[in-house]
Amino acid sequence: MSNSTEMPSNPIKAGWESPSNIALIKYWGKHGKQLPRNSSVSFTLSTAATRTFVTIKDENRTGKVELDFIFNGKENQAFSTRVEKFLNSICDEYFTFLKKYSIHIDTSNSFPHSSGIASSASGMSALALCLCDIENQLNDKTNFDENFYLKASEVSRLGSGSACRSIYPEVAVWGHHEDIPGSSDEYAIGIGHQIHPVFKSFHDDILIISAGEKSVSSTAGHNLMEGNPFAPVRYQQANQRMKSLITALKQGNISDFGKIAEDEAMTLHALMMCSDPSYILMEEGTLSVIRKIKKFREQTSIPVFFTLDAGPNVHVLYPDEVENQVNSFIQDELKPYCNEGRIIRDKVGTGPEKIS
Ligand code: PMV
Repeated sequence: MSNSTEMPSNPIKAGWESPSNIALIKYWGKHGKQLPRNSSVSFTLSTAATRTFVTIKDENRTGKVELDFIFNGKENQAFSTRVEKFLNSICDEYFTFLKKYSIHIDTSNSFPHSSGIASSASGMSALALCLCDIENQLNDKTNFDENFYLKASEVSRLGSGSACRSIYPEVAVWGHHEDIPGSSDEYAIGIGHQIHPVFKSFHDDILIISAGEKSVSSTAGHNLMEGNPFAPVRYQQANQRMKSLITALKQGNISDFGKIAEDEAMTLHALMMCSDPSYILMEEGTLSVIRKIKKFREQTSIPVFFTLDAGPNVHVLYPDEVENQVNSFIQDELKPYCNEGRIIRDKVGTGPEKIS
């Protein structure tokens, strides 16, 4: 899916807003060039998002990417270095224009980075969409067809694996699975059209238990899976759970969905605890919240479930019809565990949008 382009006479600019996503079957373990050890499926979110603008302008004769990078209105050396490295790694194969012009990137998040909310997913997908958009403009193309989104997903994956799922509305699958036609390790595909309507308005309230940097990054966590004795059986389990979860998503089976989502969260963190060296990303508040959610569900029969990312924050999942009851429960019983009472009230969303 590589491509090259011609010289622009004026600055060319593209802006996209792209959401985060929450995995229901987790991608945990990778090989080669950011390829997954198992397939995964996620809800695309709505509120937690990144807005990115990329501008290419003056000619660049340095032979490498020349980047000027602004994050949340300020320079950010750590992010700039990461993005520059990423752009250098993809320019020859995917976007030759990246070395021909100076690049300006202005990006901002609606949520704290490195807090277990996948800021790299929204960030890398927004950046990839901008790059594909600029390539379109250089080639005088005006439409965003299927190949546009496939390329954006593939490029996002190279930046951060889970980012490739953020490209699509509602629900996305990444990683080849025998039951899912069109699924691939190289890019994600959207399966929102196959999903029962009850999941299209599902809520995900993200309880910020801690907004600090994680002690072990996802990259380090994926790498530790290579030596984890439970890894082979985990990958089989993930593929089995994919089958069951996709069925539940199609049928609108909320209790099967919730059980699998919770089991996946526990498995992810158990894998961390039995890595070598072992580590724990949950906090005390994470455990308290999990216990409270289970108890509330048992006592009320209200369908509310949790999942976790690679971090301490808890994603509270529930259908729209129980919003009021769950909101009261969260305010009364879970909010005290949140850092400064912070909760991001998110929902399944309609996917990235071009900013005009
Ligand atoms: O895309 P990465 O490398 O940040 O890894 C994401 C891993 C999980 O969030 C834990 C699971 C997933 O599938 O998103």
